[in-house]
Amino acid sequence: MLDAINIHWFPGHMTRANRKMQQSLKLVDCVAEIIDARIPISSRNPELIKMTQNKPKLLLFNKTDIADPLQNSSWITYYKNKGFNILSIDAKTGKGLNKFSSALRVSLKDKIQQWEKKGMGLRKIRVMVVGIPNVGKSSCINRLVGNKKAKVEDRPGVTRGNQWFYLSGGVELLDTPGVLWPKISDQIMGENLAFTGAVRDHVIDIEGVALRFINRMVSSYPDNLCQRYKLTKEFINTHSPLEIFYEIGRKRGLLISGGEIDTQRLSQMLLDEFRMARLGRITLEKVEDIKK
Ligand code: G4P
Repeated sequence: MLDAINIHWFPGHMTRANRKMQQSLKLVDCVAEIIDARIPISSRNPELIKMTQNKPKLLLFNKTDIADPLQNSSWITYYKNKGFNILSIDAKTGKGLNKFSSALRVSLKDKIQQWEKKGMGLRKIRVMVVGIPNVGKSSCINRLVGNKKAKVEDRPGVTRGNQWFYLSGGVELLDTPGVLWPKISDQIMGENLAFTGAVRDHVIDIEGVALRFINRMVSSYPDNLCQRYKLTKEFINTHSPLEIFYEIGRKRGLLISGGEIDTQRLSQMLLDEFRMARLGRITLEKVEDIKK
């Protein structure tokens, strides 16, 4: 039996960041919400969803290069069926981001029509970029802005710390801090956020998280686990996550004096390897599970 993972943090800064975002929302026409293709549900901050519900929205489906390709297409269909405008991207290389401006215009088509009627068709589009920590917000903005890094002048009403950037094609981006929500009550969501690094490693019990990760790999991606750590299917099916954890540690020679396994280093290695896609392209939330 594995222990539930605990996240230890002080959510004060999240409340402050949320308040700032709420104020800045008045200044934008739409919201680009970045989500992590490996955790397409858990990477959506429920407080942000609520806060931005009345704004036109573009979902940026990021990290597609390290998520399971079959799941990528299922999730895109899932969100399209729910009425979302969604753009598949990989902010690390910039793939898909060339369609950013045109996708924004699709999200804003009603507003743009209204502007055109009023003779304001050439008005600039202001978009707020939001997302949880580590989702790829900086990478995405850097890719979109390119090496111009052009910052828009300070504007009245814009809270310090939220930066504006110019894009070509009349788009202005407002960056916001990556925030989570104060109480992550769903255990699986908490795990997903810890595995992907959205919840920082120093606020979790990393060994507990690594055991939970092994447990998840055994049930969802056993072949990837076996291949990466040279384990047999029979072994992972007949041993506990803790035994598998120690076996990987032995194979990797992660030992401390006395020949014991260095559990801290082993845990960090397992999570880092997952985050760098060394276990292959993995999606932790599957569409078929949501529909159940
Ligand atoms: P944030 O501002 O939302 O916190 O995220 P940031 O852009 O800093 O990205 C967090 C990590 O995720 C970075 O890795 C970044 O390279 C990686 N990343 C962002 N988008 C993608 C993507 O689409 N695909 C892949 N494979 N990785 C992505 P890092 O290891 O922390 O930094 P770095 O050494 O790569 O710069």
